[in-house]
Amino acid sequence: MSKIEVKKVYKSFFNSGDTVDIADTADTVDIADTADIADTAGYLSADEKSISVLEDINLKINEGEFVCLLGPSGCGKSTLLHLMAGFDAPTLGEIMIDDAPVKGPNSKYITIFQNYGLFPWRNVLRNVEYGLEIKGVNKEDRVEVAKKQLKTVNLWQFRDRFPVELSGGMKQRVNLARALAVDPEVIFMDEPFGALDAITRIKMQEEIIKIRGNNNKTIVFVTHEIDEAIFLADRVIIMSADQGKIQKEIKVKLVRPRDRTNPDFIKIRDEVYKELKLSEETGMLQYYI
Ligand SMILES: Nc1ncnc2c1ncn2[C@@H]1O[C@H](COP(=O)(O)OP(=O)(O)O)[C@@H](O)[C@H]1O
Ligand SMILES: [Mg+2]
Repeated sequence: MSKIEVKKVYKSFFNSGDTVDIADTADTVDIADTADIADTAGYLSADEKSISVLEDINLKINEGEFVCLLGPSGCGKSTLLHLMAGFDAPTLGEIMIDDAPVKGPNSKYITIFQNYGLFPWRNVLRNVEYGLEIKGVNKEDRVEVAKKQLKTVNLWQFRDRFPVELSGGMKQRVNLARALAVDPEVIFMDEPFGALDAITRIKMQEEIIKIRGNNNKTIVFVTHEIDEAIFLADRVIIMSADQGKIQKEIKVKLVRPRDRTNPDFIKIRDEVYKELKLSEETGMLQYYI
């Protein structure tokens, strides 16, 4: 369990499509040198060579909290997640995990993507063992941990299969087991169930809540599915498309497992819809998949 703090974060990309090299930026961007953030942000937005994707993002995620970043495609969810996971550096501002600035990817934080990222040449068991191999854990201990995690996701009997022989839901469960095997402090997930059919997706949502019940990891989960966010999260962070800002935070205090047909669930859903519709009325936000 870790806490995460996003402090006055701005991110812009160069129009050329170049990404900023985290190694270069980490050393050169110093918030103390950019005393007037508002001015600087204006400069960044106005600069024709760069597009501003995130502006003045401030967010505190508590230890063991499950936070969903919700918003339409292109609003900057993945960008924000990548900054937190250390794959890229903010243009301005700072991200802290457990009071230490994020300088790059760290094995304490695992990221799960939509496209599974399993090694096709390794069977299920050896895929789950992978992170432990990197850590130098011996074979016997690796198998023991992998077995526990594969049992958690109900795939132990499929340990000898290769990814090509698995359904999308199974692949994502292997991915989850692989992430849990290294016992990370934080799990970042970027639309992990986006490629799954609706029914498998609901099952995976239920599964992740069950798994999480046993080990309160801090989870930051990106989605554009309103129901998914309300089903999963302690707190839903709604991001707005037009400015790359946090538009609203909604706490979800419903007991788990949640019932999507429950009037309280529907009330929260209405609140989220209203929030997104309000922006739509201004003509600036298109909510699409
Ligand atoms: N490396 C990059 N270079 C240039 N523009 C980028 C880069 N990554 C993302 N963007 C732009 O930033 C915006 C937000 O992207 P992203 O964070 O992927 O949104 P989301 O995950 O909410 O769909 C988009 O307009 C996208 O085109
Ligand atoms: Mg994305």
